[in-house]
Amino acid sequence: MLNEKVHKLLNEQINKEFYSAYLYLDFSNYFKAQGLDGFANWYKIQAQEERDHAMLFYTYLQNENMPVTLEAIGKPDKEITCHMDVLKAGLEHEIYVTSLINDILYNTFPMRAMELKRRAWRSLHVWKNRKVAEVTLSRDDFREVRGTKAEAEDVVEIPRSVAGNQIALFFYQIPDRTKEIRVSIRTRCAYDATILAKQFGGGGHVRAAGCTVKGSMASAKRLVRRAVKEMLQKR
Ligand SMILES: [Fe+2]
Repeated sequence: MLNEKVHKLLNEQINKEFYSAYLYLDFSNYFKAQGLDGFANWYKIQAQEERDHAMLFYTYLQNENMPVTLEAIGKPDKEITCHMDVLKAGLEHEIYVTSLINDILYNTFPMRAMELKRRAWRSLHVWKNRKVAEVTLSRDDFREVRGTKAEAEDVVEIPRSVAGNQIALFFYQIPDRTKEIRVSIRTRCAYDATILAKQFGGGGHVRAAGCTVKGSMASAKRLVRRAVKEMLQKR
């Protein structure tokens, strides 16, 4: 389910993308009138790209079962007196549209999810071989932040983003399940995440799996790390 604010911004973005296409068609039109067919063609291609962007957001909302609202597209209103005006206005508009995308991105994460991420970043532990990276969120982290498991959903992307990473591990403890540790596993290359997960009664896919290990955080880490080491040695 998409956040309401993000939904609204994505709807607006569809309109902004179509406006961009309109604006670039206007630029194309200007160059055509100047006899500069190459420039005219280039802006026509840019207009097509903007329509593609609009359709991506449109399709995304539909796939998420969110209603799409189409508003009127504004008239291109950049004042053009010379070739350079077009290029300057184009650059200015690209910077503006990029800032809108950034706003959507920044509006995606509620504060609690950000705080969980911050704590996860602080816990980042990269093995000496650089192939394995881990992050941890304890029961206390979830309690203090009043965060939920769903809000920590993409935390595993943190160890996964380390350059050269082959196996990413996210250890976490759900506040009301204190006698077990959950482990999210992400792998690359020849490493199969399900082989690791299955050793602890878990499962999943080749690249993404998970399991639950009984006991404390320290003992769960010891067991999983041993299994990871064995996996690395077999290669
Ligand atoms: Fe665009």
